[in-house]
This record gives sequence, structure tokens and C-alpha cells, in this order.
Amino acid sequence: MHLLTKTPLSEQLKPLVGKPVSAIDTPSLVVDLDAMNRNLARMAEFAKKHDVRWRAHAKMHKSSALARLQMQAGAIGVCVQKTSEAEAMAAGGVHDIYISNEVIAPAKLARVAALAGRLATENGKLAIAVDSVEGVSRLAQAMNDSRTSGGNPISIDVFVEIDVGQGRCGVAPGSAAVALVHEIRKHPALRFAGLQAYHGKAQHVRSAQERRDLIAIAAQDVVFTRKLIEAEGVPVELVTGAGTGSMVCEAASGVYGELQAGSFMFMDADYAANERDPAQPHFEHALFVKTQVISSGVQHAVCDAGHKSHAIDSGLPKVHAPDDAHTLNYFNGGDEHGILRPAGPGIRVPALGQMLWLIPGHCDPTVNLHDCLIGVKGGLDTGKVSRIIRVDARGALT
Ligand SMILES: Cc1ncc(COP(=O)(O)O)c(C=O)c1O
Repeated sequence: MHLLTKTPLSEQLKPLVGKPVSAIDTPSLVVDLDAMNRNLARMAEFAKKHDVRWRAHAKMHKSSALARLQMQAGAIGVCVQKTSEAEAMAAGGVHDIYISNEVIAPAKLARVAALAGRLATENGKLAIAVDSVEGVSRLAQAMNDSRTSGGNPISIDVFVEIDVGQGRCGVAPGSAAVALVHEIRKHPALRFAGLQAYHGKAQHVRSAQERRDLIAIAAQDVVFTRKLIEAEGVPVELVTGAGTGSMVCEAASGVYGELQAGSFMFMDADYAANERDPAQPHFEHALFVKTQVISSGVQHAVCDAGHKSHAIDSGLPKVHAPDDAHTLNYFNGGDEHGILRPAGPGIRVPALGQMLWLIPGHCDPTVNLHDCLIGVKGGLDTGKVSRIIRVDARGALT
């Protein structure tokens, strides 16, 4: 690979297309496209069955090409977490975007307003979450400034975020949310579109029953808040929320109209450790780090993928075993190395040069470490490289 040239990695990797999986250099981030497409189809079917919309969270893959694929599969649009992610998605041809997060800096809000105007001219739409009076008035100011400087006289959809148990953003359920709805309705450039009620903490609670209990409380908070808002004569058109861990609960609640799940498409090792709810579609691992053994001894081997290749915030990667047999354990060897030890007696240390596949602990920050994903069809053993997918919102943090 010509790393010293200025050619983008996506261009450098193009000659790989059509080549066998064995031609992929290590360490590389690889997507099993067959598994990913099955995950997408299962999600689309699930959403249809439960009569809920599905707005895939693009913070996970940060790729406009994958966002477009999700929309072809049935997603209504995408969620993003950052203004710059929204800009990258729009530049990549995604036109229905919801910033499911609070934006407070005037300079960023000016970009939000400009993007809302741009998307409106392309029959698209931008929406955003708020959780403060100050946030509402700054957003309104940005929208008004954009109008007076020749921007489109459009309004932006605004969701009031309520904290249903995560203890992150969001106002308390009840009267604080009602007050915010009134604030939004004072500004002609803002349109109250509904409630965001995402329970991040519930996603990785291992017990399926405990997740059900947490989302039941969240749904009660939503119903209580919605009643108060509607008592003031204001309809609550949509309740949006849910992630991969709890989406079956929100879908069954009859309260949520839109699911924001994202990780199901790649399914990381941390999500796989959750007890599966029987109602949950079967989501397969589709994201892997291909790695090679570069040193092999009596007790352990060392591979070339450390935590510059995969995030470790949600635990170390698992070594993929095609038959689900757990044969090797991965231990932290630093930023460029992984230590591999047999999981039990009678299992051999992998040989020098052996190729292995790691399942990252957490897909979102793992993807953000890479410029490109290498899409493979036909399986990880005998498949071929089918496409190179740019992570075009990589590093979009502002
Ligand atoms: C607001 C919001 N919605 C949805 C999601 C998607 O969750 P997941 O990727 O775990 O399915 C996240 C993830 O952190 C989030 O922050």
C-alpha cells in the first residue's frame, strides 16, 4: 500500500474489489455484507410487523453509502449525533436527517440552520432535539438569522428530549417538557415534532427482563408527559427513541412510533453478551477486524491488531470462531498488538502467519478509527471483496 501518496485510502483499496478475502491486508476493518444485509432485512421486517418507523442511527457506521443502503432497506431516514455528521450525510446524498442530540454553540446552530435550508431545497428535512429554553432560543435565533441573510424561510422540526432514566441529556418528564413545548411554539421557525425518549443505559443491561422493566418505566414517563402536553391542546405526533438492546420493548410499548437503533447492523461483542429477548430478531456479527499472527510461542501468540484497530471501551474483542467454538482468548497487547491464548487445554496456539477475525467490543468507536470498510460477499473464508465503503463522517465530532 502506498501510504506516502496523497491518494485516499478508498482509491488505493479499489483494486482489491473482486479479489479473494485472503488478499486483504491486516489489520483491516471488514464487513460481511451478506450478514449485514440479513440484519437489515430482519430489522425492516421487524419494524413493519410492529408498525413503527425505523430511523437508523448513522453515528454507528458514519458512512453515507451505508445510510443510503439502510434507506433502501426501509429506514425512513437517519439519526446523527453531531452537526458535522449531518453535513457529511447530506453531502453523501442522505436527505432525511435527525440530530438526536442537543446543539448549543451559535456557530454550530448557524450550520444547522444552513443545512436545514439546503435540505429543504432538495425535498429533504433536518430535525433536532432540545432540552433547554436557552437551546430553543439559540436555535430560533440561528433560523431567523439564516432567513434574514437570504436563506430559505423554512421551519425546523424540534423534538423535546426527556430523560427517561439514562441521566444524560433531556428534561425531566412532565411539566418541564410542557414548558419547553410552549417555548418552541413561540418561534415560527421552529415546529414541535414530538418527544425523544432514549434510554441509553438500558441498552446494555444483560437481563432481558430488566431491560423490559426499564423501558416500561420509560414508556410510563412518555405517556405521562404526552398527556400533559396534549391537555394543552398540542398534539404529540411522534415519540422517537430506542437502541439495539431495548428496541423490542419500545416497539411493543404502543407508545414509540420510531426506533433509532443502529448497532444491530454490525452487532458487536458487547451487544451479543446481552441475554437475547425472544422477540428480538436474530442479528449476526457483520463487522470484523482481520488480523494476522506475527509472533507465536509456546503459551501465546501475538496478532497485529491492538487498540488502534478496535475500540476497547466496551471490552476487548472476541476471536471469531466460525463454528461458535470458543477457542482463543484475546488479551490487550497495547495499541498495535493483541495477545492470543488458548481458551482451554488441548487448544493449540495459532501459528505464525495465521489469519484471524476479531469481533470488536463496540462497533461505533471502532468504525471511527478507520477510513474505509472493506465489504466482503461469500463469507470470510472463501468470499471475495465486493466493495470499498468510505467512512465519510469519520472524525466528524463537531
Ligand atoms: C440518541 C441515541 N439513539 C439511538 C442510539 C442507537 O443505539 P445503538 O447503536 O446501540 O442501537 C444511540 C446510541 O448511542 C443514541 O445515543
